[in-house]
Amino acid sequence: MSGNTKTNLKKNVPSHIIIIMDGNGRWAKKRNLDRISGHREGMKSVRSIVKAAKDLGIKYITLYAFSVQNWKRPQSEVNALMELLKHYLIKEGDKLIENGVKLNAIGRLWELPKDVYEVLEDSINKSKSCTELTLTLALSYGGREEIVDAVRNIISKKNIMPKQVNQSTIAQNLYTSDLPEPDLMIRTSGEMRLSNFMLWQLAYTEIYVTKTLWPNFRKRHLVRAIENYQKRERRYGLTGEQVKKKEAI
Ligand code: FPP
Repeated sequence: MSGNTKTNLKKNVPSHIIIIMDGNGRWAKKRNLDRISGHREGMKSVRSIVKAAKDLGIKYITLYAFSVQNWKRPQSEVNALMELLKHYLIKEGDKLIENGVKLNAIGRLWELPKDVYEVLEDSINKSKSCTELTLTLALSYGGREEIVDAVRNIISKKNIMPKQVNQSTIAQNLYTSDLPEPDLMIRTSGEMRLSNFMLWQLAYTEIYVTKTLWPNFRKRHLVRAIENYQKRERRYGLTGEQVKKKEAI
């Protein structure tokens, strides 16, 4: 990374970036390759973006790696994705720790194959005390499923009255209770959809969609997304004037 890039991006860097990594299949199709080759190439982007995020001073990055709905893909593709995930954790685990990256995972993790779950749990434990960047992998994740699981948690607690349920009750029972709200959501490959990702958490998140396919997404694309984010005014329902007044205080 050039020194300049860092200086320009220093101010107002989003603290939490979440990414819908889309377009692996299309990347492969364009090259007459199978879909799995697209996912394999997508792994290179994962490595590159995690490093870039750390270098840019981002504190939290969350990657939508496998949705609850993805279990319905052809079994060969599901198996390949699970193998890629396991391979990534085994191969990159030590490097992540060396770089101060704390690994985290959200989703219905109990649905993962046992061997993958064990490697994941082990990697999470080993990186527990890292503080530079928190990398969260959304695995067997669904935004609606997350809300359902939160409601199940809440109502399973005895002695809770309907009136006592408020926004923080829900937020504290989501998989993301330990994470700050996402500032910026990036979706690659041009699709204008949320695809069941972080439905609750996205309420005030800035959205950036790029046509770049995930396997082609590199640091320069991330920098572009951050620069675009920095030009925006986050109003949270207030007027522009109110926001300016607040900033001046
Ligand atoms: C979407 O592309 C991508 C996925 C469903 C999987 C993303 C997985 C990786 C990048 C590799 C595994 C990641 C980690 C962190 C271990 P698509 O297949 O829907 O693409 P298409 O819309 O072009 O068909």
